[in-house]
This record gives sequence, C-alpha cells and structure tokens, in this order.
Amino acid sequence: MQAINVSIEVDKRLWAQDIAGSRAHAAMLARQGIISAEAAQEIDAGLQTIIGEIEAGTFPFRAEYEDIHMNVEARLRELIGATAGRLHTARSRNDQVATDFRLWVRDRVDYTIAQLRDLQKALVTRAEDYADALMPGFTHLQPAQPVTFGHHLMAYVEMFGRDATRFEDARKRMNENPLGSAALAGSPFNIDRHMTAEALGFDRPTANSLDGVSDRDFALESLSHAAICAGHLSRLAEEIVIWTTPQFGFIRLSDSFSTGSSIMPQKRNPDAAELVRAKTGRINGALIALTTVMKGLPLAYSKDMQEDKPPVFEAFESLDLALAAMTGMVRDLSANLERMKAAASSGFSTATDLADWLVRNLNMPFRDAHHVTGAAVKLAEGQGVDLSQLSLADLQKLEAGITEDVYSVLTPEASAASRLSYGGTSPVRVREQIQRWKEILA
Ligand code: ARG
Repeated sequence: MQAINVSIEVDKRLWAQDIAGSRAHAAMLARQGIISAEAAQEIDAGLQTIIGEIEAGTFPFRAEYEDIHMNVEARLRELIGATAGRLHTARSRNDQVATDFRLWVRDRVDYTIAQLRDLQKALVTRAEDYADALMPGFTHLQPAQPVTFGHHLMAYVEMFGRDATRFEDARKRMNENPLGSAALAGSPFNIDRHMTAEALGFDRPTANSLDGVSDRDFALESLSHAAICAGHLSRLAEEIVIWTTPQFGFIRLSDSFSTGSSIMPQKRNPDAAELVRAKTGRINGALIALTTVMKGLPLAYSKDMQEDKPPVFEAFESLDLALAAMTGMVRDLSANLERMKAAASSGFSTATDLADWLVRNLNMPFRDAHHVTGAAVKLAEGQGVDLSQLSLADLQKLEAGITEDVYSVLTPEASAASRLSYGGTSPVRVREQIQRWKEILA
C-alpha cells in the first residue's frame, strides 16, 4: 500500500506553495476568529522554521507521512506541539493540493513566458544581424523562392510570441483560489476565501467548491500550450540539424553547443538541437498522460489525481531545458553567408520571378507565363546553368517579347527585394517586423 500510495518524492517540489497556502490559511482563520491569534502566530513561526529547514536541506522528508502536506504538518507538530493540529481546520488535503498545484503551475507559466521572451529577443537580435542575408526559402524542403535569413528567424519570433500569449491566457483562467473548497462541499466555518485568494495572488476564489477540488484543466491547458510550444521548438531544432550538415553548411553552432564523436574526429554534432527536438516527445507524452488520467473521473476528488503531478513536472522541466538550450544556440550561431547565398541562387529559385516578369511586362496570363518559365528552367537545366545565366537569345526563342530587363529580376537579391507586400521577405519589410518586435519586447 505504501509503495503505491506515497507521493512525497514527487510532490515535495510543492513545498514552497504548500507552506505559502498554510500561512495564508492560518492568518485567515485567526482573523475570522476561528483560531486564536496566538495559535496562528505559533503556526506561522513553525512554518517559517520549516522553510529554513527545507532550504538548508535538513528537513526530514518521510515516506510514512505520504505526501508534502502531511510531511509539513507532521514536522510542524514536532516543532510546536498540538497547536499544529489547528491548522487543518476548515481545510482538506483536497483543496490544499489543488491550491498548491495551481500556484506551482502559475509560477512555471510565468517563468516559461519569461523564457519565451528571452528566446524571442535572441531571435530578433540575430534577425537584425541577418536581415539582408539571402537563403533559399523552401517548400517540401525543395528550393522554392529566395528569402532572407532574418525573415526566416522572424517567423519563429511570431510563433514563440503566440506561445507566450497562450500561456498568458491560461494564467488568467487558472488564477482562481480553490482553498476553502475544503473536502468538496465547502466549510461550515465562517472562512474568508477572498482573503486567502488575495494573500496568494489569486484574482478571486473558485466559484464552486466541487469544481475547485476536481478541476485540473489549468494543468491540462498549460500542458497543451507546452506541447504546441515544444512543436515549434522541434521545428527550429530540426532546421538547425539540417542547416549544420556539411551538405547544407548554412550555419555553424558554437563549440559549446556542438559535440564531437568518440571515434570520428571530424564530427560537430548538433546534440543540443537533437535533444530539443526529442524533448517534444516527453512533453506530448505528458499531455496524453494527464488527459487520460482525468478522463471519466467522477466528481469530486479521486486519488487518480495524485498522478497529475509527474507529467506536469516532467513536461515543464523538459520545456525549461529546451527553451534555455535553444536560446543559447540561437545567440551563438553564425551563418555562412556565401553558402546560403549560393544556395539561394541555385535550384531555379527565381523561376516565379521570371513568370511574374512575363505577366507584368508582356501582359501574359500567369498560367502561360508559368509554361514559358517551365521551358526556360528545362533549357537551363540542360545547359547546366542557372536562369540568370541563360542568354537573351535563348530566352527570346521561348518568348520573343523578353528583353534585357528580365535579368534584373533573376538574381536572388532582386527577387527578395521585390517582395514588398506586408509581411514579405524584402529586407525593408523584415526590418519593420524587427522594429515592431523590439518595441514589444523592450
Ligand atoms: N497527495 C494527494 C494528491 O496529490 C493529496 C490529496 C489527498 N487527498 C485525499 N483525500 N487522499 O492528490
């Protein structure tokens, strides 16, 4: 029984939240005249001693007291005697754990938002460095149209910005105080749930005591957002893995984020990026684990809900590491501008520009322009050259109206610079995006 029931090794991480909740509860009990002011003072002093013990590493976490709540209370009894027993008036472990866990998730959400902002800042800084750096834009991982590296990095700034606001939204919804829901039905004592809500930084008490002890959707919502964020991280991580291959050679990670091989001396492996990519598995797994634990549980509390913590702790630990590692990699990476630019020029990446030129200058329907451009690509492929290297005579054989002016759109620079539509890859537009984000992140 003890082996399956005990949770202290996991939930001891809630100690700070548990003690904060108890201190708020004791103060409220005293103000409402439910316990004496002296009792509340003794309890508070004892709880402060416990904080000191835990911080000093001398607190005895004991499996026979099952969980963090009973470990703290048992130690309080050892320290101050029978008065400790008054703390649990008008309270149950059910509302206690719901409160502790909300406080913990709220703290982590705040921390994650700060980490996301740091990652965004690192990306914006690098985007500014590389606002004019040409690279191939891909679809299907096939060269599509030239873009700038700055534009590509700023795409991730948008994604991580939405991730941050998702966490901000979740925080607003979760910021209600379950304490005082008691076991499930509320309390016959004249408690003041607004007072404990305020003391713990909650916006208000939860409105329904059954919901207060039963709900874990604050955790589920945070895990969902963590999973979406991890998905974004894994995409950037995957790109870093691809870009650092000698075949691509677009970027170089700093030595601190590259690892060697025990047998192959030439290796510079992107282990950190691979691990960021892999952490997504744990985070997605945590979301599935908790949605499955919560599914079909009757109201109110069931011990199943003790299994809510391991996935959440693990997911946020993984997300923390992934965000920190990604921020470090982005800060330190350097781009090989020649390599990227050469790649941007190859693969007929300005074919769309040729078609657009035919539309604009010869008033050709786009579908016909697409056809002529296809023939030009085939010709260039046959000659082993790029579109901009085809002779005017060759181009005119395909379409008599083509003039010298066409070459002005066939370079990757011209292609990127011409994409001035809102949100487009032109360095002018990219710098506007960068400026906007710098103001938001300042
Ligand atoms: N350790 C428990 C948990 O994490 C605390 C609540 C226990 N409540 C109960 N009625 N057994 O869920």
